This record gives sequence, structure tokens and C-alpha cells, in this order.
Amino acid sequence: MSIRESYNSWASQYDSNINKTRDMEAVSLRENLHPFTFNNILEIGAGTGKNTSWLVDQAPKLTAVDFSEEMMAIAKTKFQDHPGIRFVQADITTPWNFTTEKFDLVTFSLVLEHIENLDHIFAEASKLLNRGGIVYIGELHPFRQYGGSKARFTTEEGEKVLEVYIHHLSEFVQTAACHGLQVFDAKEYFDNDDKTTVPRILVLLLSKS
Ligand SMILES: C[S@@+](CC[C@H](N)C(=O)[O-])C[C@H]1O[C@@H](n2cnc3c(N)ncnc32)[C@H](O)[C@@H]1O
Repeated sequence: MSIRESYNSWASQYDSNINKTRDMEAVSLRENLHPFTFNNILEIGAGTGKNTSWLVDQAPKLTAVDFSEEMMAIAKTKFQDHPGIRFVQADITTPWNFTTEKFDLVTFSLVLEHIENLDHIFAEASKLLNRGGIVYIGELHPFRQYGGSKARFTTEEGEKVLEVYIHHLSEFVQTAACHGLQVFDAKEYFDNDDKTTVPRILVLLLSKS
């Protein structure tokens, strides 16, 4: 099953499954972005709108992108007729010709683990970002991935494990820098705030120089 087919199949239960990673990342996004104000937000891999619901109040305009029509269909039901949101179905591994707008925030929440080639993603994000704009990355921590942790869900036919790629910390930092994106903050989130365990979520904040 492709990644898109997997999310189409997962969509109806994505919001209701017990999922610590999903929930912790919702906290991390809000904690890290609330100090800023934005005019135009690009949310990549918006899914069922977990973060769209908060981001939409942080800027007058938001573009939510996802390639899973089923995930997006659920998000759309939550924001019917919202004048500030534009939903776009697109595969971000292809050229980002879905917009000609410029943004001052681009977010990636739990999506880059499904992307093999970060170079393309940072190149496209950087092109659409205003100078001084911010990229937020909130991902399953690579240290968890080293232990075999992968996105997964259960269906009537059994457990489905999604195709994932590991991006080491150095790869995030160095690939971003190649496209004018500099890390200005990094955070790690732990289950029960227990810093003796392997962190669950990695947050990187990048700015465009
Ligand atoms: C784990 S979900 C995260 C959804 C949401 N950001 C959240 O945190 O709940 C990952 C999302 O990324 C989307 N996605 C994965 N690969 C993608 C690609 N190549 N292009 C566009 N969307 C993609 C999936 O369809 C899915 O909705």
C-alpha cells in the first residue's frame, strides 16, 4: 500500500485512535509558534486538520496541503466556509506549483518521515518563504526511529505499518542550510516529561536569511 493509500485508509480513525505522537506534536506546535504573529501560513501535510484548527487563528490566510483526499475531506468538514483557508490536494515530492503566494510560516507536522528527499522539500519551501519567514518542523524524533518506531494503524485485516525514512539531525540542519534556512531553536519532547527516556518529538525552528 502506498503512503497516500495508507492515509486514505487511516483517515476515518486518525482523530479517534490513541496516538501519543499525534497529541504531543499538537502541544509542541502551539508552544513553539504562539510567540509569533503571521500573515500567511502554508501548512504542509495538514491531514485531518489537527493543527489547522489552531493555525487558522494565527493568520488571516492559510493554505493547507495534503495528498490524501480522505484526510483532507475530514479536515474540510471542520472548516466549512472558513474564508481564510484554502485546501490543496498535492504531492509535495513533485514541484510545488500549487501556489504563487509567499508565506511567512511553513509548517511540517509528522510528515517529513514519509519523504525520502529532504533537499527538494527545503528548496521548495524556501522559494515560497519571505525573507525572515519561519519553518516549523515537528517530527517523530529520529532517536525513536533508530529503535524501530514507525507510524502505524490497525484495520480489520491487521496492523498496517507505513513507509518511513529516517532523517538524522545533521541531515535536517545541513540540508536546510543549503537552501538559506538556519536553525534558530530546537526542542525535544519526552513522554511524561521524563528526560531519562528517548524523546518522542523533535522540534526545529528555521528562519530564512
Ligand atoms: C501523520 S499525518 C500528520 C497530519 C497532521 N499534520 C497531524 O499532525 O496530525 C501525515 C500527513 O502527511 C501527508 N503526506 C505524506 N506524504 C505526503 C506527500 N508526499 N505529499 C503531501 N502530503 C503528504 C499524509 O497524507 C498525512 O495526512
